[in-house]
Amino acid sequence: MPLLRVVDRDGIEHEIDAKTGLKIMENLRELDYGVAAICGGMCSCATCHVYVEDEWLERLPPMMSDERELLTELSHYEKNSRLSCQVEFTPELSGLRLRIAPDE
Ligand code: FES
Repeated sequence: MPLLRVVDRDGIEHEIDAKTGLKIMENLRELDYGVAAICGGMCSCATCHVYVEDEWLERLPPMMSDERELLTELSHYEKNSRLSCQVEFTPELSGLRLRIAPDE
């Protein structure tokens, strides 16, 4: 199974068997320590905000303008921020490590 490494808001790392072909958010919202994803992936709530480990960042598909606009308005925005609803989890991303961002 493709692996996703998730650091929760308490700093605890979890290794999960993630489903490919789904958005990363769809894998994360299943978890107790995951994301709320209130808008369901419409790129409007930012409750799926994660920080992607630097070495993985450039392997992700580039950001579209609506994702960038929403992220850069957040108080917890960092250069490795992504909205997990905008990134599909593919087999090539197995091993990806990310951290769930604080609530806004
Ligand atoms: S789930 Fe709302 S922006 Fe990603």
